[in-house]
Amino acid sequence: MVKVAVFASGNGSNFENLVKKKREGLLKGDIVLLIVDKKEAYALKRAKKLGIESVFIDPKSFLSKEEYEKEIIATLKKKDIDFIALAGYMRIVGETLLKEYEGRIVNIHPSYLPELKGKDSIKRAFETKKDFTGVTIHFVDRGVDTGKIIYQEKLVIDKKWTLEELEKKIHELEYEIYPKGLNLIFDKESY
Ligand code: GAR
Repeated sequence: MVKVAVFASGNGSNFENLVKKKREGLLKGDIVLLIVDKKEAYALKRAKKLGIESVFIDPKSFLSKEEYEKEIIATLKKKDIDFIALAGYMRIVGETLLKEYEGRIVNIHPSYLPELKGKDSIKRAFETKKDFTGVTIHFVDRGVDTGKIIYQEKLVIDKKWTLEELEKKIHELEYEIYPKGLNLIFDKESY
């Protein structure tokens, strides 16, 4: 079975959801490792509770992005990781990691791409009063939120919703479709 590492920077609710979906038999990959780039990431606490190995790799302790990513690769290799699922990893993946895991890195983005690329997509959808937004699962390439789309769903925005309500709806959709998007890949590929 495909061995997956999840990368996160903060809360980690998508990471936790993927682990739970796997345990419920609804994800066709095994989440064996969490990597975070922030010491205070709440995702670390979730990993501990779930019994999943986690590693904090501090980008600031390396001289370059290349060195930082070489350390990530060494960590991934030690655990025989086949595949990377970004889940709130707020850092652009560099050339070193992209080359090593070519076509095997996916991201979840809280908008209906190509709409609202980049940061704070939920807030921007809310503030600019969009009629709809959504969630997209896509491959990671050299651009920001530009990789090939694997799966996406729209969410029609009810104008009565507060920002918090919209965020909640987006997260609910994320928990439903991230496992779905990953399964589409894991069904096709052999690892
Ligand atoms: C999620 O909404 C994810 O789509 C978003 O960060 C959040 C992480 O939540 N990712 C991006 O905006 C990437 N550009 P989580 O830490 O609770 O999973």
